[in-house]
Amino acid sequence: MPPSRKIAVYPGTFDPITNGHVDILERSLVLFDEVVVAIAVNPRKEPLFTLQERSDFIAEAVARNPRVVCDAFQGLLVEYCRERKAGFIVRGLRALADFEYEFQFAHMNRRLGPAVDTVFFMTDERHHYVSSSLIKEVAGLGGDISGLVPPSVERALIAKYARHTKGNPG
Ligand code: COA
Repeated sequence: MPPSRKIAVYPGTFDPITNGHVDILERSLVLFDEVVVAIAVNPRKEPLFTLQERSDFIAEAVARNPRVVCDAFQGLLVEYCRERKAGFIVRGLRALADFEYEFQFAHMNRRLGPAVDTVFFMTDERHHYVSSSLIKEVAGLGGDISGLVPPSVERALIAKYARHTKGNPG
Protein backbone atom coordinates (compact mmCIF):
# COMPACT_ATOMS: atom_id res chain seq x y z
CA MET A 1 0.00 0.00 0.00
CA PRO A 2 1.55 3.37 -0.98
CA PRO A 3 2.14 5.82 1.88
CA SER A 4 -0.80 8.20 2.09
CA ARG A 5 -0.40 11.93 1.75
CA LYS A 6 -0.19 13.70 5.07
CA ILE A 7 -2.78 16.46 5.10
CA ALA A 8 -3.13 19.01 7.91
CA VAL A 9 -5.67 21.75 8.53
CA TYR A 10 -4.41 25.05 9.96
CA PRO A 11 -7.55 26.83 11.23
CA GLY A 12 -8.02 30.42 12.33
CA THR A 13 -9.75 33.68 11.59
CA PHE A 14 -6.70 35.13 9.82
CA ASP A 15 -8.09 38.67 9.93
CA PRO A 16 -5.45 39.28 8.67
CA ILE A 17 -2.67 36.68 8.45
CA THR A 18 0.45 37.83 10.34
CA ASN A 19 4.10 36.82 10.01
CA GLY A 20 3.52 34.70 13.12
CA HIS A 21 0.97 32.64 11.19
CA VAL A 22 3.25 32.50 8.12
CA ASP A 23 6.07 31.11 10.27
CA ILE A 24 3.81 28.33 11.62
CA LEU A 25 2.52 27.59 8.13
CA GLU A 26 6.00 27.33 6.59
CA ARG A 27 7.20 25.06 9.37
CA SER A 28 4.14 22.84 9.06
CA LEU A 29 4.96 22.32 5.37
CA VAL A 30 8.12 20.50 6.46
CA LEU A 31 5.96 17.86 8.17
CA PHE A 32 2.93 17.68 5.91
CA ASP A 33 2.42 17.15 2.18
CA GLU A 34 -0.52 19.54 2.08
CA VAL A 35 -1.69 22.21 4.53
CA VAL A 36 -5.21 23.52 4.24
CA VAL A 37 -5.41 27.01 5.71
CA ALA A 38 -9.01 27.01 6.87
CA ILE A 39 -10.55 30.41 7.49
CA ALA A 40 -13.23 30.04 10.14
CA VAL A 41 -16.45 31.87 9.51
CA ASN A 42 -16.98 32.94 13.10
CA PRO A 43 -20.28 34.76 13.78
CA ARG A 44 -18.81 36.15 17.05
CA LYS A 45 -16.05 38.03 15.23
CA GLU A 46 -16.68 40.95 12.91
CA PRO A 47 -13.82 40.72 10.43
CA LEU A 48 -12.13 43.74 8.93
CA PHE A 49 -11.28 41.88 5.70
CA THR A 50 -13.59 39.79 3.52
CA LEU A 51 -13.03 36.07 3.11
CA GLN A 52 -11.68 36.67 -0.38
CA GLU A 53 -9.22 39.31 0.84
CA ARG A 54 -8.01 37.07 3.68
CA SER A 55 -7.62 34.15 1.30
CA ASP A 56 -5.64 36.28 -1.20
CA PHE A 57 -3.31 37.51 1.57
CA ILE A 58 -2.61 33.91 2.61
CA ALA A 59 -1.94 32.76 -0.97
CA GLU A 60 0.40 35.70 -1.57
CA ALA A 61 2.20 35.18 1.74
CA VAL A 62 3.23 31.66 0.69
CA ALA A 63 3.89 32.67 -2.93
CA ARG A 64 0.93 30.57 -4.11
CA ASN A 65 2.67 27.38 -2.97
CA PRO A 66 0.70 24.48 -4.55
CA ARG A 67 0.95 22.52 -1.26
CA VAL A 68 -1.06 25.22 0.51
CA VAL A 69 -4.81 25.22 -0.03
CA CYS A 70 -6.89 28.21 1.15
CA ASP A 71 -10.45 27.51 2.10
CA ALA A 72 -13.21 28.67 4.45
CA PHE A 73 -15.27 26.56 6.82
CA GLN A 74 -18.22 26.79 9.16
CA GLY A 75 -19.25 24.35 11.86
CA LEU A 76 -17.13 21.81 13.69
CA LEU A 77 -13.45 21.79 12.85
CA VAL A 78 -13.13 18.00 13.15
CA GLU A 79 -15.99 17.52 10.67
CA TYR A 80 -14.19 19.78 8.25
CA CYS A 81 -10.95 17.78 8.76
CA ARG A 82 -12.87 14.62 7.91
CA GLU A 83 -14.20 16.20 4.72
CA ARG A 84 -10.69 17.26 3.69
CA LYS A 85 -9.26 13.83 4.66
CA ALA A 86 -6.88 15.62 7.03
CA GLY A 87 -5.43 13.64 9.93
CA PHE A 88 -3.94 16.64 11.72
CA ILE A 89 -4.78 20.08 13.04
CA VAL A 90 -1.92 22.60 13.21
CA ARG A 91 -1.86 25.19 15.98
CA GLY A 92 0.73 27.71 17.12
CA LEU A 93 1.57 28.30 20.76
CA ARG A 94 2.73 31.83 21.49
CA ALA A 95 2.87 32.04 25.24
CA LEU A 96 1.83 30.28 28.39
CA ALA A 97 -1.51 32.09 28.10
CA ASP A 98 -2.28 30.17 24.89
CA PHE A 99 -1.65 26.82 26.52
CA GLU A 100 -4.74 26.61 28.70
CA TYR A 101 -7.08 27.38 25.82
CA GLU A 102 -5.23 25.18 23.35
CA PHE A 103 -5.19 22.31 25.84
CA GLN A 104 -8.99 22.46 26.16
CA PHE A 105 -9.44 22.91 22.43
CA ALA A 106 -7.21 19.93 21.54
CA HIS A 107 -8.88 17.65 24.06
CA MET A 108 -12.37 18.57 22.92
CA ASN A 109 -11.38 18.04 19.29
CA ARG A 110 -9.86 14.68 20.16
CA ARG A 111 -13.07 13.65 21.87
CA LEU A 112 -15.16 14.77 18.88
CA GLY A 113 -12.83 13.29 16.28
CA PRO A 114 -10.34 10.75 17.69
CA ALA A 115 -8.84 10.15 14.24
CA VAL A 116 -7.60 13.73 14.05
CA ASP A 117 -4.56 14.71 16.09
CA THR A 118 -3.37 18.23 16.98
CA VAL A 119 0.23 19.24 16.32
CA PHE A 120 1.60 22.34 18.07
CA PHE A 121 4.40 24.55 16.90
CA MET A 122 6.10 26.91 19.29
CA THR A 123 5.82 30.37 17.77
CA ASP A 124 9.09 31.97 16.79
CA GLU A 125 10.32 34.37 19.51
CA ARG A 126 10.06 37.30 17.09
CA HIS A 127 6.27 36.85 16.93
CA HIS A 128 5.22 35.68 20.36
CA TYR A 129 3.42 38.97 21.18
CA VAL A 130 1.70 39.38 17.80
CA SER A 131 -2.02 38.93 17.25
CA SER A 132 -4.30 40.05 14.43
CA SER A 133 -6.24 42.43 16.73
CA LEU A 134 -3.08 44.08 18.02
CA ILE A 135 -1.84 44.57 14.46
CA LYS A 136 -5.16 46.19 13.48
CA GLU A 137 -5.09 48.44 16.53
CA VAL A 138 -1.54 49.63 15.89
CA ALA A 139 -2.18 50.13 12.15
CA GLY A 140 -5.40 52.00 12.94
CA LEU A 141 -3.46 54.42 15.11
CA GLY A 142 -0.82 54.97 12.43
CA GLY A 143 1.89 52.81 14.10
CA ASP A 144 4.59 50.92 12.24
CA ILE A 145 3.60 47.30 11.49
CA SER A 146 6.37 46.54 8.98
CA GLY A 147 7.99 43.17 9.54
CA LEU A 148 4.98 41.90 11.50
CA VAL A 149 2.71 41.14 8.54
CA PRO A 150 3.30 40.22 4.89
CA PRO A 151 3.80 43.27 2.59
CA SER A 152 0.38 42.90 0.91
CA VAL A 153 -1.33 42.95 4.32
CA GLU A 154 0.64 45.99 5.39
CA ARG A 155 -0.40 47.87 2.23
CA ALA A 156 -4.05 46.86 2.65
CA LEU A 157 -4.17 47.91 6.31
CA ILE A 158 -2.59 51.29 5.58
CA ALA A 159 -5.06 51.87 2.73
CA LYS A 160 -8.05 50.74 4.76
CA TYR A 161 -7.30 52.93 7.77
CA ALA A 162 -6.33 55.92 5.62
CA ARG A 163 -9.82 55.75 4.11
CA HIS A 164 -11.51 55.33 7.50
CA THR A 165 -9.77 58.19 9.27
CA LYS A 166 -9.52 60.75 6.47
CA GLY A 167 -10.55 64.09 7.96
CA ASN A 168 -12.76 62.58 10.67
CA PRO A 169 -11.56 62.33 14.25
CA GLY A 170 -14.91 61.21 15.65
N1 COA B 1 1.04 34.29 15.34
C1 COA B 1 0.36 35.42 15.47
N2 COA B 1 -0.90 35.48 15.90
C2 COA B 1 -1.49 34.33 16.22
C3 COA B 1 -0.84 33.10 16.12
C4 COA B 1 0.49 33.10 15.65
N3 COA B 1 1.19 31.99 15.52
N4 COA B 1 -1.69 32.13 16.51
C5 COA B 1 -2.84 32.73 16.85
N5 COA B 1 -2.72 34.06 16.67
C6 COA B 1 -3.72 35.08 16.98
C7 COA B 1 -4.80 35.16 15.98
O1 COA B 1 -4.48 36.09 14.97
C8 COA B 1 -5.96 35.61 16.81
O2 COA B 1 -5.88 37.00 16.99
P1 COA B 1 -7.19 37.88 17.23
O3 COA B 1 -7.99 37.22 18.32
O4 COA B 1 -6.56 39.14 17.62
O5 COA B 1 -7.88 37.89 15.93
C9 COA B 1 -5.72 35.05 18.18
O6 COA B 1 -4.35 34.75 18.21
C10 COA B 1 -6.52 33.85 18.46
O7 COA B 1 -6.23 32.93 17.45
P2 COA B 1 -6.90 31.52 17.41
O8 COA B 1 -6.84 30.88 18.73
O9 COA B 1 -6.34 30.80 16.25
O10 COA B 1 -8.40 31.89 17.24
P3 COA B 1 -9.14 32.10 15.96
O11 COA B 1 -10.35 32.86 16.29
O12 COA B 1 -8.29 32.70 14.90
O13 COA B 1 -9.52 30.60 15.54
C11 COA B 1 -10.77 28.54 15.60
C12 COA B 1 -10.21 29.72 16.41
C13 COA B 1 -11.46 29.00 14.36
C14 COA B 1 -9.61 27.65 15.21
C15 COA B 1 -11.74 27.75 16.51
O14 COA B 1 -12.68 28.66 17.06
C16 COA B 1 -12.50 26.67 15.74
O15 COA B 1 -11.96 25.66 15.38
N6 COA B 1 -13.78 26.88 15.51
C17 COA B 1 -14.62 25.93 14.80
C18 COA B 1 -15.75 25.43 15.68
C19 COA B 1 -15.33 24.25 16.50
O16 COA B 1 -14.95 23.20 16.04
N7 COA B 1 -15.43 24.43 17.83
C20 COA B 1 -15.07 23.43 18.77
C21 COA B 1 -13.61 23.45 19.03
S1 COA B 1 -13.18 22.40 20.36
